Order: sequence, then structure tokens, then C-alpha cells
Amino acid sequence: TGGAARGLLAELREKAAARLDPVHLDFYEGGAGTERALAENERAFARLALLPRVLRAAGPPRTAVDLPGAPGTQPVVVAPTAFHRLAHRDGELATARAAAAAGTVLTASMAATTTVGEMAAAARAVDPAAAVWFQLYLQPEREVTLALVRRAEEAGCSALVVTADSPVFGRRTRDDRNRFHDLPPGYAAENMRGLPGAPPGGTRDIAMSPALGWADLRRLQAATRLPVLLKGVLHPADARRAVEEGVAGIVVSNHGGRQLDAAPAAAEALPRVADAVAGHVPVLLDGGVRSGSDAVTALALGATAVGVGRPVLWGLAAEGEDGVARVLAHLLEDTAHVLALCGAGGPRDLGRDQVVRRGPAGLP
Ligand code: FNR
Repeated sequence: TGGAARGLLAELREKAAARLDPVHLDFYEGGAGTERALAENERAFARLALLPRVLRAAGPPRTAVDLPGAPGTQPVVVAPTAFHRLAHRDGELATARAAAAAGTVLTASMAATTTVGEMAAAARAVDPAAAVWFQLYLQPEREVTLALVRRAEEAGCSALVVTADSPVFGRRTRDDRNRFHDLPPGYAAENMRGLPGAPPGGTRDIAMSPALGWADLRRLQAATRLPVLLKGVLHPADARRAVEEGVAGIVVSNHGGRQLDAAPAAAEALPRVADAVAGHVPVLLDGGVRSGSDAVTALALGATAVGVGRPVLWGLAAEGEDGVARVLAHLLEDTAHVLALCGAGGPRDLGRDQVVRRGPAGLP
């Protein structure tokens, strides 16, 4: 049930908090500014309720969905998050194995502490058909972006996820207070090693640039055969433009509340983005998904799938690969269960009319 899934996540979150270095815990849990966007992501789901439909003879729910480079995957995917080796010694390899075992997409972060090649190999060792996407920030130097794309292609990634919500780094209040701005000795952003401009044997910094535009996205698309999803879209006009530019998918996200603190909750931005996209490409949502009810609410509001960031990190920090596997299995089981309770045979059977605001507004 939703309660049980929330219970499991809460349990793993507590266990993670007890195990992690407090500075690393703050890095994972924190957001930008006053952490309003962070809090709103979960609150927005809490403000919504699902209206079940009855007697629809829907049969047992089939949860499989088609995403770019990931046909027949599951509707809860792993969002890209940085620095997994700070959570557990097995780091991203544990996450990759658990995602593959769950039959869902792993989005490898450009800021991973393990190379995308090693992550993809770990996923494929569990399931040769495992889908791995590579998330990247377009770099101001085009040859650096291209070198990263080649690495993702050689690793066998089946899509790129370009994160567009970071023209500058978000101002993370907890990290500033903790003076946490660099990985500790012995850890590095391994995808950035040996790139053009990196010191011999070393890594380059990940750059964020407010000078990037649609032309840069177009150049990326021209330089690869991989489908490109655009992550961090909240404005419907940007979603429409992205579809015109030929993106393969849109990820509605406020970056887990880590960039613009004044941004709305992802769930509240979703319906207008879904309207703008009008079914041309899949729309994903991430931010605040903590249960099957949250996932089904997003699916009913127009998402094809949802991503989870922090819950994966809680599982990883608490119990390594097993913890991530437990998080993903519970969210997927819970999603199927809530679909059944809503009278839906699959994500496509849901209607937006099944999502209502909580509160007395509808009472006589
Ligand atoms: C992130 N996120 C992120 N996004 C991205 O595109 N590249 C990245 O490297 C990271 N790194 C990262 C680190 C940590 C610690 C967090 C919590 C988040 C954002 C992530 O992909 C996603 O948008 C949010 O995490 C979704 O919100 P929830 O599920 O954490 O509420």
C-alpha cells in the first residue's frame, strides 16, 4: 500500500541519516535557498487525491511503458544524481545493478563518481537488455560535450538527458554552511577524467553556462544518433519549443529543489507542460515522488513515467545495492497496486479527471 511504501522509504531514510557523514547527508537532502521548491515537491502531491473508477473490468495492471531507448520499461526510473560513492562504497555500480534488476532505466549522472562505461557494464551484467541513459550538462567548449557524448555512446547508452535548468549552480544553503563544494580526496567525477583541457590524469570541472541556447542543443542533436531528452523544463512554451526542436522526451523537474528556489512543484507544472506537448513525445516528471500514489498521480496528470532521486540515495546509503533494489521494487509494486485500485489496467487508462484537490472546496 501507499502507507507501506512510505514506511519503507522513511525507514531507509532514517537508516541512511544515521550512517552518512552529516555533511554528505546535507548534500543529498538539501535544496537551494530556503528549500521552498524542495518542500513543495512533496507537498504538491500531498494536496492531491485520486478518484478511483469502479467496475471497469480492467484486469491486472500492466505497468510497462515505452520511453526513448527503453521500450517496455517500468514507469518509475532512476533520476540522475551525483556522487554515489559518498553514500556507499559500491557507489554507482550498486545503483546500476539494482536498476537493471528492477527492469527500469538508470540515468547515469555526468557528475557520477564512477564512469558511465562501468555503470552500463554493471547494469548489463545483470540484464543484457538493461537501458542506461546518460545525463549531461552542455559544456561551453563544444569538444568537451562531444567527448562526453562519445563516452556515453561507447558505453552503450540508449539516450542522452540534457539538463537545462542549471545556467548557473544553485545556491545550496546547507552546502555553503558546511563549506562542501568539492569531493573529498580519493573521489572524483570520473566521467570528467582525461577530457580535452583536463590536467594529465586528472578531471575537468563541470561547467555551467548561461550562454547556452537552443542552437547548442541543436548542435548536440546533429552530433549524435542517440535520442535526446530535455530535463528541467517547467514552462509550457519551452516544452513546445523542445518538441519543435525534435527532442525525444521532456523531463518536468525543478531539480529536486536545488536550483531556482521560487520554482513551482514539479507536479504543479506538469499538466500545462503535458498539454503543450500534446502527446508528441513522452513527458517524465521528477521531484517529490515517494509512493505509488504519487507516481500514479503524475501518470494521471500526463506523465509517461516518473523519476526518483533521493529515495535511491536513501536506499543506497542504508543498504547498498539491496537498499536501492528495495526502494525500486516497492515503488513499482505500489504503483501497480494503486493503478489497480484506481480501476486502471495500465498508465494509459488514467484520466486527469481522476486527480482532485483535497480540502472542502467540493463539499456542498
Ligand atoms: C540531483 N539531481 C541531478 N540532476 C541532474 O540532472 N544531474 C545531476 O548530477 C544531479 N545531481 C543530483 C544530486 C542530488 C544529491 C540530488 C538530490 C539531485 C536532480 C535529480 O535528477 C532529480 O531532478 C531530483 O532528485 C528529483 O527529486 P527527488 O526525487 O530527489 O525529490
